[in-house]
Formats: sequence, C-alpha cells, structure tokens
Amino acid sequence: MLELWERLVEVEQRLIPTGLHVFGRAARADECADLLRAVASFDRPERGARALTDLVSEGLDSGTYDSLLEDKTEEGWRRRARVEDIVRESIAVFMREGAGGACLALEREARVAASESSKVFALLSDVREKLATSAELDGLARALRGEYVEPGPGADVVQNPSVLPTGRNTHAVNPYAVPSRVAYERAGRVVDALLERHRAEHGRYPRAMALVLWGLDNIKTQGEGVAQALRLLGVRPVRDAMNRVTGVEPVSLEELGRPRVDVVMTVSGIFRDLFGATVMLLDAAVRCVAALDEPAELNPLRANVAAQVEQEGCSYEDASLRVFSNAPGSYGTNVNFMVMDSQWEHADALGDLFVTRKCFAYGRDREGRSLEGREAPGALSRALSRVEATYQNIDSFEIGLTDVDHYFEYLGGVSKAVETRARVRPSVYLSDAVSRDARVRSLEEMVRLETRAKTLNPKWYEGMLGHGFRGVAEIESHVTNTFGWSATAGAVDGWVYDEVAKTFVLDASMLERLSDLNPHSARSLVARLLEASGRGFWEAEDGVVEQLREAFNGLEDRIEGVAQAG
Ligand code: BEZ
Ligand code: MG
Repeated sequence: MLELWERLVEVEQRLIPTGLHVFGRAARADECADLLRAVASFDRPERGARALTDLVSEGLDSGTYDSLLEDKTEEGWRRRARVEDIVRESIAVFMREGAGGACLALEREARVAASESSKVFALLSDVREKLATSAELDGLARALRGEYVEPGPGADVVQNPSVLPTGRNTHAVNPYAVPSRVAYERAGRVVDALLERHRAEHGRYPRAMALVLWGLDNIKTQGEGVAQALRLLGVRPVRDAMNRVTGVEPVSLEELGRPRVDVVMTVSGIFRDLFGATVMLLDAAVRCVAALDEPAELNPLRANVAAQVEQEGCSYEDASLRVFSNAPGSYGTNVNFMVMDSQWEHADALGDLFVTRKCFAYGRDREGRSLEGREAPGALSRALSRVEATYQNIDSFEIGLTDVDHYFEYLGGVSKAVETRARVRPSVYLSDAVSRDARVRSLEEMVRLETRAKTLNPKWYEGMLGHGFRGVAEIESHVTNTFGWSATAGAVDGWVYDEVAKTFVLDASMLERLSDLNPHSARSLVARLLEASGRGFWEAEDGVVEQLREAFNGLEDRIEGVAQAG
C-alpha cells in the first residue's frame, strides 16, 4: 500500500511541461505555480534562502525533509504528505496574495519564521516577475542586426533561477573549473546510490560500466557527469591556486572503501568540442588508475588492461583507451535515424552502428601527443565487452527520456552495443541531477514514469493538442522515442503500447481529433504501433492489430484524398 502511494506521489510530483514553449511568449500565471514549487524545494545559498520543504518540516518538528524522505514508515509518509500539502498551499497563497500572505500562512500552519520564508518568497517574486516578461524576440532581432545582446547563464530555471530573463546570449561554463566542488560532492552521493543499487540487484558492485557524457548537461551541472566518472574510477580532481582543475590524484582504496570501477566513456561530439581539457583529464584519470599497483579484484581496470596486453598481444596504450567520441567534426550516433526510418532487421545493427560512429579515441599517448580521435573500433568493442551496467545522468527537469530521440540513440545505443559484445544485456541506470535524494532508477522504471507522467497523461497530451499540428507531431515523437527504448534496450512493458493504442487510436473521437489536426503524424503513430507489434515488442490484444490496420488505411485514404483534391 505504501509503495503504491509512493509511486503515485512520484508521478504527481514530476514537473510536467503543459505544452510547448512559444518563442517570444511569456509564461501564463497558472503555468508558474508548479515551477515555483520546484524552485522553492532547493536551498538557494546565493539568496540566503533555505528550501521551503525543510523550513516546513522543521517547523512541524519533523526534522529535515531529507530525513522524511528516508523514513519509510507510515508515520513518516503521513508527515511527508503534510509537509508537501503545506508547501503547495503556501505557493497557492503566494500566487493569489503575494509574499506577505504566504509568509503569514506558513507561520500559522507550520511555525515557519517570516524572517526565513520571506527570503524564499522574495526569490519566487523575482522569478515570477521575470517569467512574466519575454525579451526573446527583441534579443533575436538585436542579434540579427549584429548588436550587443546581454549575456546570461545557461541551465533550467529550477537548477539556476538566474537564467531568467530568457532571450539573452547564453554563456556556458569555464571548462577548467569542471568539475566544480559542488558537482564532485553531489556525484559522490549519486555514485554511492548507483553502486548500492547494482549490488542490491546483482549481489556485488559492477566491475565495468559504460557512461554517456553530454556537453550541455555538463555545462548545466558544472560537470556532474564528469565527476561521476572520476568517482567511479576512485580519483579526485587536483586544483591550482586559481581553482582550475589541473589533474587528478587517486583516492586510496582504504578511503574509497570499495573496489574501483573500470569506466568506458562515450562522449558526445558537443562534449568533445566544448570540453577539450576535460577529455584529457578523463583519459589521464584512466591512465592514473591503470598504473596503480593494486589487487585485481579491487582495481579491475588495471587487471583488464594487463590481461588484454598479455592475452591479445595488443599495446598497453590501446588496452587503456576508455574515452571515445565521434570522428573529429562529426556528431551523433545515427542510431535514432536507423530506428525512426525502420532501417534495421536485427537489433545488433543498432549497436554496431553506435560503435562505428563512436569508436574514435581521445586523450594522449605515452609521449603526451594528442590522439585527436584515432579510429579504434576494436578497442571500443573490447572495452564494451566487459561492461555490466550502463548509465547516464539526466540533467534537466524539462527534457526526459521520451522527449527527444537523443537519450535512446546514446544510452540505448551503447547498451545494445554492450549486449551483443558482452553477450548479456547490461543493467541500465539513470539518475536525475536535479532530484534531492540522488535517486537512481532503472531504465524500465524511468520509461514507466515518463509514460505515466507524459505520453498517457491527459494534462500533458491535452497541452500538446492545444498546439494543433505541432502538438500531434510531439505525441507521435514520444511514441517513437518510447519505441526506441524497445529497439535498443527491450525496456518497454507491453501495457505501454496497449494504453497508447487505446488512448490515441482505438478511441474514435481522439483519432478524429488527431487526424483533423495532423493526419501525417497520426498515420506515423499508428504505423509505429503496428511496427512494435510486428517486431514482437508488444503482444497486442485480440483484434487490436486489425483495428490499427483499419485506422492506418483510413488515414492513408484521407491523406491521399487531400493530395488529389489539392
Ligand atoms: C550534448 O549536449 O552533448 C548533446 C545534446 C543533444 C544531443 C546529444 C548530445
Ligand atoms: Mg535534436
């Protein structure tokens, strides 16, 4: 019962985008409340503001909110629900009456001192005011005229409220400051949770993992993904007097308290371009760990390099390659295109394509010369053949696993490449950089959560349908991205397809709406469901495939009819 409740709360609390952003249009007031609640649930030391959840929890004598999150007793749940209700209500009061009323409400309901809550609501007032304005069109026009556009940081609003107002010239990060101290701290908690999760499921820590690192994520989080790789290897960044990261040093096995992990990093082309110094740092970290004189069971990286040199007669250099990306000047895995165009017969082709695109090694050789993207498919395949778990850090509240095709092309692509090379499907894990409790989820759990929170959620799809033609295309693209997780990782439950079919195709009035707004995307959606059934990703109930075929033919006729009439 408690577990069911926890699942419901999890879906309820996901921040769900209700529709697309319209360039140049400011957010409506009613769109702000959920966002403000998310902003208020984190400490903001730069504004001297503490998380509202903590203030309320402590005001009710329930300790910190983090301790409530850990408390799995019924009493713990009750207390947590009460804290969340009070926080939600205070945001509603803030929306209606402003900061003064909200502070009074919190003082009355949870004995929160106004001296504390006023700092939070001052921040929220600021965020709300800036959300109500949009300088995007003006900024674009100025950029096109070659005029000065004021700079601003890049992230999402929850991670960094000072991204507002939008419409500024987004600047990134100082790559020499990556990973930041905060990123390295947070990575410690996530990596602990990740390794514990694997141990709970498999009885021991993974000996080798494959990580996906993206450029924009590491900008937004100041290098949390990079820090996670360093933590898994068991090294820490070394900084100079200017706070620039200049190298790494090993954390002793004693301090680490667990074995090191052999880490294969597949980094995006954007990461490679933006974080040249960091690519070198990651490669140096691998070489540092491979050189440590430690027992094989505690340092599998060293053992794997030594075994490969001995058994396969390859050079030490090749055996220690672990940082891979595209060929210089090239981007992406193309796995997404292969899936979307249905251009594959056997799923192995998807993993092979990933390796073909991503097998370019970066780092330095023994003489310190840059490898500059040396093509090394054998080295990547060999490294992936030992991998037991794959992982990616999700950096944003706004974009998740089924919103874009890039998650499945990367994390799905590498997982499929591991599956064929290790001859066993790896465990696939994700975490969100933004959650408070460093929560790690399996891919299957995350797909379920995304499906319930978005694709099948009327609040989400009605928001999309409000955008007409483009909205239907978004719904279709979520279905295709979900399908991408079947193709690359077998991570989608059959009920997901059942429910998608029921919601969007078998419901005649919904199908009519989709067809009126955008028959092309409606047809693609139906075709994708048929493909899922044909490829055996889904065992459709009796008669459903026939109904889908009928719907498909109806859409074909309609599209052709329109073409002929035109
Ligand atoms: C990146 O930030 O590295 C990235 C962004 C979109 C797709 C793939 C990678
Ligand atoms: Mg794209």
